Amino acid sequence: MTPAIATTMPAWVRRAYGPAAGTRLEQLPVPVPGRGEVLLRVQATALNAGDVRLMLGDPLLVRPVFGLTRPKNPVRGMDVAGTIVAVGSDVVGAELGEDVIVELPGGGGLASYAVVAASRVVPRPPDITPEIAACLPIAGGTAWQALDAAGAGLTSQATPRVLIVGASGGVGTFAVQLAALRGAEVWASCGARNAPLIEALGAVRTVDHRLSPLSELPAGRFDAVIDIAGGIALRELQRLAAPGGSVVLTTGDGGHVMGPVPRMLKAAFLSIGRGARIRSLAATSRPEVLRELLALVADGRIVPVVEREWPFDAAASALAHVEAGHTVGKVVVRGA
Ligand SMILES: NC(=O)c1ccc[n+]([C@@H]2O[C@H](COP(=O)([O-])OP(=O)(O)OC[C@H]3O[C@@H](n4cnc5c(N)ncnc54)[C@H](OP(=O)(O)O)[C@@H]3O)[C@@H](O)[C@H]2O)c1
Repeated sequence: MTPAIATTMPAWVRRAYGPAAGTRLEQLPVPVPGRGEVLLRVQATALNAGDVRLMLGDPLLVRPVFGLTRPKNPVRGMDVAGTIVAVGSDVVGAELGEDVIVELPGGGGLASYAVVAASRVVPRPPDITPEIAACLPIAGGTAWQALDAAGAGLTSQATPRVLIVGASGGVGTFAVQLAALRGAEVWASCGARNAPLIEALGAVRTVDHRLSPLSELPAGRFDAVIDIAGGIALRELQRLAAPGGSVVLTTGDGGHVMGPVPRMLKAAFLSIGRGARIRSLAATSRPEVLRELLALVADGRIVPVVEREWPFDAAASALAHVEAGHTVGKVVVRGA
């Protein structure tokens, strides 16, 4: 028998843009799934740097889409593992009682229940826990798409040389593992405290991003440079890439108003010249990639790195931890 669904639920809410400190636990109505939607009982939600950007409304450029003066959805949490407890009309291929994972681009995971498009959910194999599965959609999906975006730089060599700039966070820890799995010789920049972890994940060499500037690395050494950290001059990244190689920018760094846009425009301009092509990645929700990532986790070929799991009651602290910018791998909040 399907358990009864309450009419209200606890949810972590921040009604105005601002830091995690202003996030409060409130009772909200349980959402009702509409056409093509399902209702999930949330089991685990993994947090991302993107949750912090939406929480802060920074850059301002995101506000026309996510809420001009305040967030349209005041509940953060975009990577969710849950159980389908109600099904809207015209839903095909998603079953009541099924355990799934999904990306919610507008957030909503830091609550007991969340409504999602049925077409976006991917079944969670029973041997992968909700806490591990929730790590995959955005961080794993972005790392996967960044390596795809490197294109010929990665596929034209038997053992391509890849540099992951900023390897210790959510995207970075997946990028190192996936690049190694694709047969690359991986170098990575990270803080000294995280070097043993990043080497265990598959990097053959790490450089300390605080003590060793990338300018000390040889020019033209890498078939692909994946920048997850930001803050490094584009010409410097381009210098590191081999002829025919590429630079992929995943980071959303930039100014308070336009965010990464000026850097993306400059990247496009620099790519016209003789240097390596620089590509700015806007990763999208890709259920087929999620299925591939789940299969790799099930086979033990990649291992999501979870820095810490937080109970639901401490979700605001988990958000504050991600906001501080030093997450190692992923931060996960267990369901209420
Ligand atoms: N383009 C897209 O579609 C897309 C999708 C997802 C994410 N992103 C972006 O990708 C970036 C990473 O996201 P995330 O969720 O993985 O972040 P995250 O987990 O919060 O990343 C935190 C990690 O970044 C490391 N780091 C920060 N500055 C660094 C630097 N200069 N050099 C080396 N490492 C550095 C930190 O190491 P320390 O503690 O040593 O400082 C920390 O371990 C964010 O900018 C995010 O907005 C973009």
